[in-house]
Amino acid sequence: MRLIFFVAAIAVTSAASRLAAEELGNAQRGLAYAQANCAGCHAILRDDTNSPNPDSPAFKAVADTPGMTRTALSVFFRSPHPTMPNLIIAPEDADDLIAYIMSLKGDAAPTPN
Ligand code: HEC
Repeated sequence: MRLIFFVAAIAVTSAASRLAAEELGNAQRGLAYAQANCAGCHAILRDDTNSPNPDSPAFKAVADTPGMTRTALSVFFRSPHPTMPNLIIAPEDADDLIAYIMSLKGDAAPTPN
């Protein structure tokens, strides 16, 4: 009986967080976008700390930077990328990317795949 309640509580919680994620970008789409556009330089997966381009921070490290917020990322994505002035990220892709990168913060959530 207790177990059933526990399972139901988890189902409700994860449905709610999925809903919140939908509003602010989709982490899974963000991962796909990163695989296509960012993985050439950045380590993009939670467990991956070695970026192909050593000057590029791993996304996990970006997420764990103290004070890193959705707003900071969003400002960064609207500015020219330091080594790639022509990297243009459409606003809906930026939301997905931000959702993905922020999902890497801390230890809690597993990498969506
Ligand atoms: C050609 C290589 C290259 C590609 C492709 C690339 N980046 Fe970067 N990126 C870099 C480098 C190099 C830095 C570090 C520059 C610096 O901090 O001076 C960086 C920095 C960053 C940072 C850190 C900003 C900060 O202040 O901590 C973020 C976030 C980031 N990139 C996101 C992305 C995303 C998202 C994509 C794909 C859409 C992407 N990058 C594609 C090379 C790249």
